Amino acid sequence: MVDLCVQIGPLRLKNPVMTASGTFGYAEEFKDIVDLNEIGGIVTKTVTPNPRPGNPPRRIVELPGGMLNSIGLPNVGLENFIREKMPFLQTLRTEVVINVAGTTEDGFAECVSRLEDVDGISAYELNFSCPNVNHGTSYSTDPNIAERITAAVRRLTRRPLIAKLTPNVTSISEIGLAVQNGGADAVSAINTVVGMAVDIAARKPKLATITGGYSGPAVKPIALAKVYELARNLSIPVIAIGGIATAEDALEFMIAGATAFQVGTANFYQPDATIKIKKGLESYCKEHNISRVIELVGALP
Ligand SMILES: Cc1cc2nc3c(=O)[nH]c(=O)nc-3n(C[C@H](O)[C@H](O)[C@H](O)COP(=O)(O)O)c2cc1C
Repeated sequence: MVDLCVQIGPLRLKNPVMTASGTFGYAEEFKDIVDLNEIGGIVTKTVTPNPRPGNPPRRIVELPGGMLNSIGLPNVGLENFIREKMPFLQTLRTEVVINVAGTTEDGFAECVSRLEDVDGISAYELNFSCPNVNHGTSYSTDPNIAERITAAVRRLTRRPLIAKLTPNVTSISEIGLAVQNGGADAVSAINTVVGMAVDIAARKPKLATITGGYSGPAVKPIALAKVYELARNLSIPVIAIGGIATAEDALEFMIAGATAFQVGTANFYQPDATIKIKKGLESYCKEHNISRVIELVGALP
């Protein structure tokens, strides 16, 4: 038997496999495809205080090695989320992480304050990093704002707090250290990489918002470098995200310093990727006589 348990600050996961926000709906959409209780942690689509329609189409472009999206955080809003989505999530026997964002600085605290009355929530993930929302970038690129928001949320909750970071900055560690100072229990990285595609027949950008967020296998090396940097510079755990589609991908991130990881774009073309990755991780540990998966974390010389 391999012990797959990992500890993300105060949050204990039965295995390091999580789903990435926005790529796994509210979990119910996947209930007939995978055994949701086998996944270590489920992160829900970003919820904001009020409903949002998201950006105008076209919002998704498939590219070699990944996809470009400018979804723009469409969601049902906090009250509808609690009423319509939480009852199913509360039936799960896995850790449920609610990803929140605000369109103003206070929006993050507003979400968390309301969710504190709701059962069945294991942790919060603060989405500082969506590049497709007005003002979203300032939360994620200004360390003072990121620290202020984290500290405001920290005062409201004892539940574990994960700050999700953007790679679209000069120094991701600077932002990581700021949220660590603000009281985050962990960071997750990366959100999407700013990108663009041009329709040469129409001579126009393919996305209505011109630029969007690039994700999928092509961003894995970028994510690995950011995760490695964060793991070296921060004292709180790092949750890796970016192009993870196989157990081998996940192993690279753990060896580079990630304590857990999230599967994103892969869910769209391989909806049972999470389960396959978990099994692959277990097989690797058995083959290499590793009794506890945490032995791998940061195993780089
Ligand atoms: C279609 C789509 C929607 C996304 N929506 C969200 C979201 O609502 N909140 C969030 O924090 N990240 C969102 N993300 C970012 C992912 O959670 C993840 O950080 C990113 O895609 C990189 O991982 P990947 O390469 O495995 O997809 C979204 C990504 C995609 C592709």
